[in-house]
Amino acid sequence: MIHIPKSEYSRRRKALMAQMEPNSIAILPAAAVAIRNRDVEHVYRQDSDFQYLSGFPEPQAVLVLMPGRVHGEYILFCRERNAERELWDGLRAGQEGAIRDFGADDAFPITDIDDILPGLIEGRDRVYSAMGSNPEFDRHLMEWINVIRSKANLGAQPPNEFVALDHLLHDMRLYKSAAEVKVMREAARISAQAHVRAMQTSRAGLYEFSLEAELDYEFRKGGAKMPAYGSIVASGRNSCILHYQQNDAVLKDGDLVLIDAGCEIDCYASDITRTWPVNGKYSAEQKAIYELVLAAQEAAFAEIAPNKHWNQAHEATVRVITTGLIELGLLQGNVEELIASEAYKAFYMHRAGHWLGMDVHDVGEYKVGGEWRVLEVGMALTVEPGIYIAPDNQSVAKKWRGIGVRIEDDVVVTKNGCEILTKGVPKTVAEIEALMAQARTQAA
Ligand code: GLY
Ligand code: MN
Ligand code: MN
Repeated sequence: MIHIPKSEYSRRRKALMAQMEPNSIAILPAAAVAIRNRDVEHVYRQDSDFQYLSGFPEPQAVLVLMPGRVHGEYILFCRERNAERELWDGLRAGQEGAIRDFGADDAFPITDIDDILPGLIEGRDRVYSAMGSNPEFDRHLMEWINVIRSKANLGAQPPNEFVALDHLLHDMRLYKSAAEVKVMREAARISAQAHVRAMQTSRAGLYEFSLEAELDYEFRKGGAKMPAYGSIVASGRNSCILHYQQNDAVLKDGDLVLIDAGCEIDCYASDITRTWPVNGKYSAEQKAIYELVLAAQEAAFAEIAPNKHWNQAHEATVRVITTGLIELGLLQGNVEELIASEAYKAFYMHRAGHWLGMDVHDVGEYKVGGEWRVLEVGMALTVEPGIYIAPDNQSVAKKWRGIGVRIEDDVVVTKNGCEILTKGVPKTVAEIEALMAQARTQAA
């Protein structure tokens, strides 16, 4: 299995501590276990920030970074070993494991945190935490601070400054290291294989969930614990619902099916969309829209390179799509005016992409000082133009209605442009039709 090496977690903690003000402390909680219903739990997924700094996969843990602390800068509070609980629920690292396997300098039982953490905070001037994103943890933090305040008359010094950790940490997360790109390539490879399998299996009479099952099979077989987000399998007019997840309609001859799905490997997401004909052959209208979206995507790739800014790729897709919609008679007027009036938004209502990483819509600022962010080597993003012609759009000829097409790939900015991580799925009309025809011949 390809994963982030332990040494990288240590490098990240050091890099964060190097940016923290002197005499400060950073405190981050692990994700809580989410209840699905009664005593059934959701599959556990670590908090991305916590995972980024620790690689520690358990709930009920708190990570503390104290730059310059002589007795160790990295402290982990976590669950104690417990023979009975481990018999029921699985192994725990315990404090020994936290030090031995996860690089903590010091580790304490999570049940002792109220007694120990105020003492660690005391005397530090500044506390970094993810304020506002976890109200329960914010409340605990204030309780710990109040313990120190209540001892002020004994000389205890509470911190005076509370700083959001997000800015430092999320900027670090935006730049992917070689190890991260390797993991993202693997997630992309498995997801590409899943889309290929769904294309090969596609035929009228199956259900959207039948194709979802093919995706899940490849994800799991590839070692992914789960999809990076709820898979979208949208056939026919459902393809015009951007976040459709019902996935229970019958696949019909003559319809397109849009699949937006990607798996997660070691907490890194992939995010791929392909749109293909259920019966293996695009109709004239489907092909026209598909090729327009593909041209928009190609134009976007050309705008992704160091020194280009974030919005250039989006602007390129808007221009290609608006021009194409006029040529097809779906928009009437002048290109510049239709771009200025955002007429394309009736058909293309989302942006051309987003940052991609541990979260599918990853962290990182899109603007800095009011200006679009300039792309740099190691930034990862999606490129996903689409055209969606609403089934009830009375202003276009009937033959176009209900067609929804999106094409989405994942890229990393390189020195000279970008690397497309998700190349493993066919994309041109000819490639997709050939793959589907071949699958049919083999099945017959
Ligand atoms: N799958 C969510 C997105 O494409 O943004
Ligand atoms: Mn997507
Ligand atoms: Mn996306």
